[in-house]
This record gives sequence, structure tokens and C-alpha cells, in this order.
Amino acid sequence: MKQFLNLGEFLDYAWSLLARGVADPKSVVKYPTFSTISEDGFPTMRTVVLRRADRIANCLEIHTDIQTNKVFSLKKNNLAGLHFWIPKAKFQIRASVVVDILTGSKVEDQWNKIPIQSRVSYGSIPPPGMEIDSPFDYQKHPKQDNFAVLRCDIRELDLLYLGTLHQRAIYTNANLWEAKWVAP
Ligand SMILES: Cc1cc2nc3c(=O)[nH]c(=O)nc-3n(C[C@H](O)[C@H](O)[C@H](O)COP(=O)(O)O)c2cc1C
Repeated sequence: MKQFLNLGEFLDYAWSLLARGVADPKSVVKYPTFSTISEDGFPTMRTVVLRRADRIANCLEIHTDIQTNKVFSLKKNNLAGLHFWIPKAKFQIRASVVVDILTGSKVEDQWNKIPIQSRVSYGSIPPPGMEIDSPFDYQKHPKQDNFAVLRCDIRELDLLYLGTLHQRAIYTNANLWEAKWVAP
């Protein structure tokens, strides 16, 4: 029976899952749900690819097209959430994040590392979400100007483990990290 005896060990485990998600294309951790608040106040969710999980820098990164609705939403309200459910590990990770939208020369290195065939995700005419006359009435014109890295600075992590005995803890980053067990 798996049990986490202290808050540090619980957090270490969550970060190990996140690291595996970045490294392993088959891991479900690679495909979190990213939630933003739309201009009219609705929570809006979509699947994204987790590109980086950096414990030292305390950030998670996502790549996107600057023309997408999530970017418009983030320009108005840069508070967002990331949700992961890892069935094999029986582990849920929820991260409350503050998002920095990085573009241009700041993301040139990342852009250069993206395989040519994968760049189609960054640039389409008309822009993503625009009405079109028929299903394939759009073209892909990938260019670096459309590419953005969403750097998500973690403010809170809420971890839940559904072991024989359930365990849940919240880690809050307000100047100093505070951690506590909470009732699951
Ligand atoms: C498996 C999968 C992975 C995806 N990865 C990304 C991604 O990394 N970045 C992204 O912007 N959209 C990604 N998408 C598309 C989004 O889910 C969404 O449809 C698109 O970004 C438009 O969202 P928005 O209008 O809410 O901004 C992915 C979709 C799926 C199904």
C-alpha cells in the first residue's frame, strides 16, 4: 500500500510525474487541461501539450498560436489553471498559475527546435476560431511571429492521491512556500 509520509515526499512525487510527462510522448501527463477566464467571465478549458516542467524555475510551459482565444483571454486576465489526472498513479495535480506570454526574440531558440512539420500549429488563415464556409476552408502558414510560449508561474499546487487512504495537500507560493495537508 503506497503512502506519502511527509509533504516533501508528496511534492517530489508530483514533480516526478510532471517531468515524466514532458519527456514521454505516451504519458497522459503530457496532455493537461489548461483553463483561462474568457472576457465574458466564463472558465474556458482546452487540452494542451506540456512542453516544460521546471521545478527550480517553478514554471510549466505551453506553446501556442498568438491568434488563439486563450491568448486574448490571457492578455485581459493572466490568471489560469492547469489540471492533470494520471490514472495509473491515481494522482490529480491542479496548478494555479500566473501566465507570461513570451514571443519574438525571447522564444527564437524554442522556435528553432520545433520540427518543420510541427510548426503548422502556429499560424493559420483565417485565425483559429473564425467562422469558415466549409470544413477545410483554411490554410496553414506557420511563422515565428505567430508562436508564443505561455510561461506559467506556479502560485499554488493542489495534489490529490487516491490511494487506499486518500491524501491531499496544498502548496501555496506567496513570498515563501507554505504547505499543508488538507482533508481529501
Ligand atoms: C491532444 C491535443 C493537444 C493540443 N495541444 C495544444 C497546445 O499545445 N497548444 C495549443 O494552443 N492548442 C493545443 N491543442 C488545441 C486546443 O485544445 C484548442 O483547440 C486550441 O488551442 C484553441 O483553443 P482556444 O480557442 O481556447 O485558444 C491541443 C488539442 C489536443 C486535442
